[in-house]
Amino acid sequence: MRGLIVTFAVLAVAAATTQTTYENYKVYQVKPQTDEEAKVLLSFKRFTPEIDFWNELHAVGQSVDVMVSPNLQQLFLNNLRNHNIAFYEIISDVERLFQNERMNQRSAPKAAEGRINFVEFHRYGVIESYLKKIAEEYPEITRLRTPANTTEGRPIYMLRITTGGSQGGQHTKPAILIDGGIHAREWISPATVLYIIQELVENPENRHMIENVDWMIIPVLNPDGYEYTHTNSRLWRKNRSKGKRCTGTDLNRNFGFHWMEVGASSDECDDTFAGKAGLSEPETEAITHIVGKHGEQIKLYLTFHSYGQYLLYPWGYTSALPENWKEHDDLGHAVDKAISAVAGTSYTIGSSTNTLYAAAGGSDDWVKGVGGVPVAFCIELPGGGSWGFDPPTSMIHPVVTETWEGVKVFHKHVQTTY
Ligand code: ARG
Ligand code: ZN
Repeated sequence: MRGLIVTFAVLAVAAATTQTTYENYKVYQVKPQTDEEAKVLLSFKRFTPEIDFWNELHAVGQSVDVMVSPNLQQLFLNNLRNHNIAFYEIISDVERLFQNERMNQRSAPKAAEGRINFVEFHRYGVIESYLKKIAEEYPEITRLRTPANTTEGRPIYMLRITTGGSQGGQHTKPAILIDGGIHAREWISPATVLYIIQELVENPENRHMIENVDWMIIPVLNPDGYEYTHTNSRLWRKNRSKGKRCTGTDLNRNFGFHWMEVGASSDECDDTFAGKAGLSEPETEAITHIVGKHGEQIKLYLTFHSYGQYLLYPWGYTSALPENWKEHDDLGHAVDKAISAVAGTSYTIGSSTNTLYAAAGGSDDWVKGVGGVPVAFCIELPGGGSWGFDPPTSMIHPVVTETWEGVKVFHKHVQTTY
């Protein structure tokens, strides 16, 4: 009994400070082998947020990483043991991991004013300054736009990169639309998208890539959530729009195409809350606005997430495949080949539903299904293992550079096919 009181006192103190602490939170990799075992495991979802599934279970025999608060570890493990469910501990103290990250962040060499580097994860202000700086330095090939503002008033930036200029409204070249940071905690995603921007704008060797294709790039689609993961709660996923009881909509469940049909929640406190209505959020609207305006021109959409090393193509709302699934599949394999040639990182390729799990309301489904963009990929970057959403800063450079090799293949496909 006393243990319980102490636990609650500790929790109360933690709640009073703004920074969520993950002290003694553990992460277990759990591998249910039967439907029955899967059911037992999934029943723990009702303990959200004390028990947080870091990825979804998409088939028995596959493993999931589950973070468990100190006060529920006993209960959780007793249940797994009673049902003979295989598991092992992969992170013994999540807070210690984050502390290490903050220390690495502090000791990393600081990027110069208006610049970025790939040895640390940047705050939104730094990203903002960089985008403004390069738009100023390369006026003949860039245009910086703000297709929307978030509920907390942050501008969402889109950098348009083109050698054609925007005069006369003539855009005959095919275009590629890219976004990162839909999910707040997936920090490696904005880093990757920023690297793509840097290569396209600042590296003269890649000039040909902007001569025959236009690029529209949003490095952080969910800046409110992104900042919140830096200031308050490292594992926040949603945006920050206020509900009655809870905050945040999962933007990747909010797109208005087969909205709420599967794999999404109508409970605003859940991590996969699909929103009050399809397209209710300013962030999702930023995408639909851009696609509405340039849909004809856009031939490829890439949305970067983490983690799991998947190259996912539509659909996420059904196990049926799009008419050009083979184009996606072949392209996915070519991209995987280019990436794995760098350091052996290999990706699993397939439709979202068949490879991962069914989830409607994703940006990729909307951009293809409603926006009419022929090719769409959701790329789940590396992470995982004992790092999860939190790859050490030393991993940023290897990941962004190998992924860039894949982007070249995507570009080549658009250039030669459309
Ligand atoms: N991990 C991503 C998510 O859960 C995968 C999205 C894949 N696309 C989809 N339309 N379900 O949001
Ligand atoms: Zn994600």
